[in-house]
Amino acid sequence: MQIKDVQDDIAEELISHEALEGKIRRMAVKVSEDYEGKDPLLIAVLKGAANVMTTFSQAMTIPVEIDYMSLSTYGSGTRSAGKVTVRQDLSTDVAGRHVLIVEDIIDSGFTLDWLVNELKSRGAASVEIFAMLGKPARRKFDVPVKYKGFEIPDKFVVGYGLDYDERYRNLDSIAVLKPSVYQEVEKRATGSQTNQAE
Ligand code: HPA
Ligand code: MG
Repeated sequence: MQIKDVQDDIAEELISHEALEGKIRRMAVKVSEDYEGKDPLLIAVLKGAANVMTTFSQAMTIPVEIDYMSLSTYGSGTRSAGKVTVRQDLSTDVAGRHVLIVEDIIDSGFTLDWLVNELKSRGAASVEIFAMLGKPARRKFDVPVKYKGFEIPDKFVVGYGLDYDERYRNLDSIAVLKPSVYQEVEKRATGSQTNQAE
């Protein structure tokens, strides 16, 4: 799906399909050089990072293993109350593996910080991160990101895996929604609890 298909919902295009995929592919080539001979394991957190994982892994020039994890994060706004639970675990043993986490977006860094520690505690030989997008203004947890795609302003974006209320994941670029879209969804959700998952 392209911006023209949901034009009425979009305030602005932030990163075009071409710019996005060009950057992801260039990063994949660089990462392939760094991991030559290391038999890396790529891990993505569902659902948001599934799109970037596909483009990224296909552009790599070395064989890799791929696995997915589904996590829920509650109360990530505050350090003490935050809690991550594993909804669907990896099927791969990470012990001794060189792991690269492939992420869609780094916001506060809370979930990612948890994941890096979790993978290290499971015995990963190394854990590094590739993030398609970063929002530096929202960062609360100091997770070192070795491979960075784009840094974006503190705006809520959709597309390329990123959703608003489970929609727009299949948009092929990164865009900012019009406020009227949130207002419509919030109106429909009145009375029910809003759930901010990754
Ligand atoms: N869009 C969608 N999901 C997100 C965002 C965003 O801007 N930030 C963190 N999760
Ligand atoms: Mg989401």
